[in-house]
Amino acid sequence: MISTLPRFGGADVLTSADVPEPIAAAHEVVIHVHAAGVNRADILQREGHYPPPAGAPAWPGLEVSGTVVSVGGGVTQWAVGDAVCALLAGGGYAQRVCVHEDLVLPMPVGLSHEGAGGLVEAACTVWSTFDAADARAGQTLLVEGGSGGVGHIAVQLGIAMGMRVLTTARGPQRVQRCEEWGATGIDYAREDVMARVRAEGGADVILDVLGAGALDDHLRMLRTGGTLAVIGLQKGVRGELDLGRLLALRARIVGTTLRSRPHEDKARIVRGVRDHVWPLVPERVRPVVHATYPLERAGDAHRALESGKVFGKVVLIPPP
Ligand SMILES: NC(=O)c1ccc[n+]([C@@H]2O[C@H](COP(=O)([O-])OP(=O)(O)OC[C@H]3O[C@@H](n4cnc5c(N)ncnc54)[C@H](OP(=O)(O)O)[C@@H]3O)[C@@H](O)[C@H]2O)c1
Repeated sequence: MISTLPRFGGADVLTSADVPEPIAAAHEVVIHVHAAGVNRADILQREGHYPPPAGAPAWPGLEVSGTVVSVGGGVTQWAVGDAVCALLAGGGYAQRVCVHEDLVLPMPVGLSHEGAGGLVEAACTVWSTFDAADARAGQTLLVEGGSGGVGHIAVQLGIAMGMRVLTTARGPQRVQRCEEWGATGIDYAREDVMARVRAEGGADVILDVLGAGALDDHLRMLRTGGTLAVIGLQKGVRGELDLGRLLALRARIVGTTLRSRPHEDKARIVRGVRDHVWPLVPERVRPVVHATYPLERAGDAHRALESGKVFGKVVLIPPP
């Protein structure tokens, strides 16, 4: 069973359907899915704004955890029965997925399937963005949206890697939850974020899920030599850039995406996450599962994410 999109639109369009069992080709594994993470990108795909890359299944889902049930020829890293999680280009809203062995990770010790199924996409996004921004210990990192699926992993990983982390969230409770990890929280609904960040001395790296509408403010929050790393466009695509400020700061703006990257890039990122992030899970980096929904209620899971009340991740549980 899968949860698919016969047409684009609101959460109602998500519909259960049956498709043939996937078969592992050479260097692929088939995973019986125990948990599938829901991402904001899935909502964009549902609305028709984010098509899956060529070769990916048409139905949504960028990450799963589960058990390996078959392996294709030449697979050396995994065996039937292994508990794993995986980064997908699509198709995770399913009982079974097929994925290249390079994009599979072992289940982190001490984490449930629900936690692991909602961790891989965020961990790979944050790790690759830190890499693109050259983020490192001793720096000040601003995470926009520390309450989000990506943001709550960015806050925890930044702190675990020795950065000083400032982060925004909406409302005192969500801010407080971010502060419990050791971040300095800023309530973006009640405070002047730019003034607060500047009062804190500015940021060396900004992990930006907002985009155009925050571009000018973000440049004003950067320290000299800083990097604005844009990964999301919740506040628009086109903005006006003060190049004079960019030059004076000797600053960089980098954009990065994960889903459409070539296989070799993704495989390198997954290796980096396995080597550098997985040892921190779950003691230093622990995914927050806000709610789980049965796969056949994927529409309700999307509604929950759209409500703005989710802290961390929403995860789908397929039938056994
Ligand atoms: N480039 C990539 O490879 C990549 C990969 C993954 C995700 N993304 C993008 O990253 C973004 C976040 O994804 P997600 O799955 O983490 O979504 P999510 O769980 O829905 O999180 C969205 C976050 O944005 C915050 N936010 C919304 N408006 C804000 C504002 N005005 N100021 C500060 N924060 C604000 C929310 O804070 P509150 O909930 O507290 O309001 C929440 O923390 C999306 O745009 C997604 O498309 C990009």
